[in-house]
Amino acid sequence: MKVLLVNGSPHLKGCTYTALMEIKGELERQGIEADVFQVGPKPVGGCIGCGACRKLGRCFMDDQVNELTAIAENYDGFVFGTPVHFASSAGNLTSLMDRALYSRRDLFSFKPACAVVSCRRSGATATFDQINKYFTISNMPIVPSQYWNNVHGNTPEEVKQDLEGLQTMRTLARNMAWLLKCIEAGKAAGIDRPSHEPKINTNFIR
Ligand SMILES: Cc1cc2nc3c(=O)[nH]c(=O)nc-3n(C[C@H](O)[C@H](O)[C@H](O)COP(=O)(O)O)c2cc1C
Repeated sequence: MKVLLVNGSPHLKGCTYTALMEIKGELERQGIEADVFQVGPKPVGGCIGCGACRKLGRCFMDDQVNELTAIAENYDGFVFGTPVHFASSAGNLTSLMDRALYSRRDLFSFKPACAVVSCRRSGATATFDQINKYFTISNMPIVPSQYWNNVHGNTPEEVKQDLEGLQTMRTLARNMAWLLKCIEAGKAAGIDRPSHEPKINTNFIR
């Protein structure tokens, strides 16, 4: 079983990465493989709502979004990490999640996921709520922890001093490992993903 840790920060080894590394270490101790996907500093364009992905099966803009969807099938769970930028997620991560989950939601559905947020001072829970909404619209079970999943710090060294934040990350990793193992055991016992009705779209026009 494998988990993909998406670092939505422009800083490859910054605060968000430090939190993700704490999760990676604990996942590995629990027997779960974990890889990091760096969104990086290169700008990720926003979704232009053209619908081309419906025909292409991928976004027409060939960037980090298609790099992510190209490998998403190989993973059983996802952690999306972001720094807080003005009490929201980093612009690159917002664009990445908009386009990845709009173009290839099928690659993510029914796989456990969680958000991880890093901030200097404030805006963590607003950002946490923002990212969780991608999961609840995509049939992705949300993995909980002992607190809302955030660390505090402006530098990795400061994050390393946030002992409660780091413990929250380790608890999150253990809960992710537990959920993945339960899903695997369920499959072995004949319990697979639910099949749903064809989707109804109403635009509130009669
Ligand atoms: C454009 C920008 C906006 C930010 N806005 C906030 C904010 O609203 N609240 C906050 O506490 N920190 C804010 N910060 C600080 C970062 O969230 C914080 O330093 C974070 O831990 C950096 O994570 P990183 O090293 O992974 O990028 C902001 C930083 C930047 C660059």
